[in-house]
Amino acid sequence: MSLTPKVMKLPKEFNKIKDPVQWALHTFQLNIKHSTLQITHPSSDKENNSEGEISHINSDHPGAFTTFANGVNYGNPVHGRLELINIIAGQGKAKDGAQLVYKPLQKGLVPVLEKLHPLGYFVRASLWLSSGNHRYSAHCDAGDGLLFHLSGRKTVRVWPTPKALQQSALFDFSNLEERMAEDYIDFNLKPGQVLFIPSGAAHEVWAKGEDPAVSVSFHSGSTYPILHLCDSLNQSKDKDIFSLPEKFQGTRKKTTTFFEPSRFIPKGYEAPEDIPQSLQDMLKETLIAKDINEQELDAALNQWWQETMANKSYPGDFIT
Ligand SMILES: [Fe+2]
Repeated sequence: MSLTPKVMKLPKEFNKIKDPVQWALHTFQLNIKHSTLQITHPSSDKENNSEGEISHINSDHPGAFTTFANGVNYGNPVHGRLELINIIAGQGKAKDGAQLVYKPLQKGLVPVLEKLHPLGYFVRASLWLSSGNHRYSAHCDAGDGLLFHLSGRKTVRVWPTPKALQQSALFDFSNLEERMAEDYIDFNLKPGQVLFIPSGAAHEVWAKGEDPAVSVSFHSGSTYPILHLCDSLNQSKDKDIFSLPEKFQGTRKKTTTFFEPSRFIPKGYEAPEDIPQSLQDMLKETLIAKDINEQELDAALNQWWQETMANKSYPGDFIT
């Protein structure tokens, strides 16, 4: 996908949502136990632009929805996230009340993703409902992001990813400051707009103004943890032949090292039957292999490529 953030128009299916705030509240109510809810306690130190303390509302508590809904209805600083859809390699489903979101996904996004990620992909949709000025501080996500903005005002600050980082075959998200080296762009979103945030681009999101802000985000891609590839190669050989240098062994959100197979397929070309040479070279440079000659190593990598592509069995990014 493109590497430049941009604003597009909302697909017409979303026009069916006449009152986004009520729709969002109802969807939260149906799935409250699966939601993440926060309250921001305003800071007394406003002069220094201090953001206030965040506490969580226990979504298992019987009064959780009422606390959250009251916050939204009275414009108090509350914020909720609910995962609506989580599909990996074609497996997964939409939560109750999320069918409206599922249709545009199937119609608009799935055909594009099938083309872009021939080894399979993940796609996640989340519902966001905030009121009373909420700020989601700078971070970056694995995968391309589309923010469908439905209600209220939202400013999204995006730092385009520096060229050097765009080109690196292996990446993680521990280098947030480096990702914020370029000049940022502010997008003041109005309802009916969709913002595209490229994979790995740092961004900050503010919900502003009197009215509650409602958005639906889609994240998608084939971000592949290199540690997982190493494990699956060992499994296919039934012994520990492959390992990784320590710096690539992180398993937490910010330290997992990824590659994205689709980045190795030149733009506009069909996925080759055999593993692309540039991907094979990169993996051979990165993996430590013992008791295996070069021909066997090439064959193991090619077998992984062919099997993954035949089954579209991309395993997921293991980040939720
Ligand atoms: Fe994000």
